[in-house]
Amino acid sequence: MRLPIFCHSQSLLNGIEAMIHYSEPPLLLKGVIDNTEDVVRLLEQNAPYTPLGGWYRPEADMDAATNAMWFQNDWVHADLQVPGSELFLFHERVMQAARDFYNAEVILPHSVYVNMMAAIEVCGPAHTDNPRFHGRDRSNTPMWMLRSMFWSGLFDEYSIVQATSIWWMNDVEGGGLYYWPGGPDKPPEEHVGDMANTALVGDNHGMFHQVGPVGPFDQGTRLVTPRAELAPAQDESGDWVVMDRGEVQYRAPIEDYRVSVLWKADVYRNEEERQRKVANSLSIPDVVAIFNREFEDKRIDLRIDVDAVEDLGIASAVGALYPEAVPREKRPSMYDAI
Ligand SMILES: [Fe+2]
Repeated sequence: MRLPIFCHSQSLLNGIEAMIHYSEPPLLLKGVIDNTEDVVRLLEQNAPYTPLGGWYRPEADMDAATNAMWFQNDWVHADLQVPGSELFLFHERVMQAARDFYNAEVILPHSVYVNMMAAIEVCGPAHTDNPRFHGRDRSNTPMWMLRSMFWSGLFDEYSIVQATSIWWMNDVEGGGLYYWPGGPDKPPEEHVGDMANTALVGDNHGMFHQVGPVGPFDQGTRLVTPRAELAPAQDESGDWVVMDRGEVQYRAPIEDYRVSVLWKADVYRNEEERQRKVANSLSIPDVVAIFNREFEDKRIDLRIDVDAVEDLGIASAVGALYPEAVPREKRPSMYDAI
């Protein structure tokens, strides 16, 4: 498997030395979807779209206009597979690109979701996608723990390697993607212009990336409440409309929204590896024991209590031991600005 590059980072706090993984550059595919009208139909069938929540802002006030017009909807996840989503879920060229990227035989697609964006004059957050491990993901494990598990390098043998494809439907004003194919210490590249019907396939869990500003820019970042919905207009115009608390906040033709479709798959070198890794899954006590053993070995005066993994003090103490990299030349984010 062409696994991400292993590089020893400089020693972190208290002498912990982490193995940080950064991925290879993603593969660019062109002319991905034969007929993009099929995608427009999928978009229409699965409207409305709601503002991105996510773990960045878990306590948003439902009636405060604090959300940028970044809408999202799931088409496939563990308990969902909307009709027509196989257009992306089992896309053969994307599957093959994932095999090529990782030199792996087993590609198991599990998620498809769509982003629709407009009028955001600042960037999204520079980030790596949420780590997943056998037995542990965001459904059963605090986010701080998942991220410290990733950045510590102590749980690599349990990680579920992920392939990600980002596909763009159209070219809009702005709307590029910054990404750090050489790791966070190198300047980013940008995929922008001629994005329509292209896809980048690679490892968004090991490569930082950041959505650039999205036009139109004439009125700055337009904000809506978490209750806002984006859906096709109920007329013959072909426009899509953002309704927020009963009022039209924005309307534009579909081609003026930045539409991207995300695809994710589990990756295994082969079936034997899959079976071995699936049989070797982590419980919370396992995770705590591995961290605590490491602290003991490194003579760090810190222990995680298995009954207090939600404790914010522990979260920040462990997080301080395994700080996330900050990618070079990252742009200010909407989460800094709002
Ligand atoms: Fe991401």
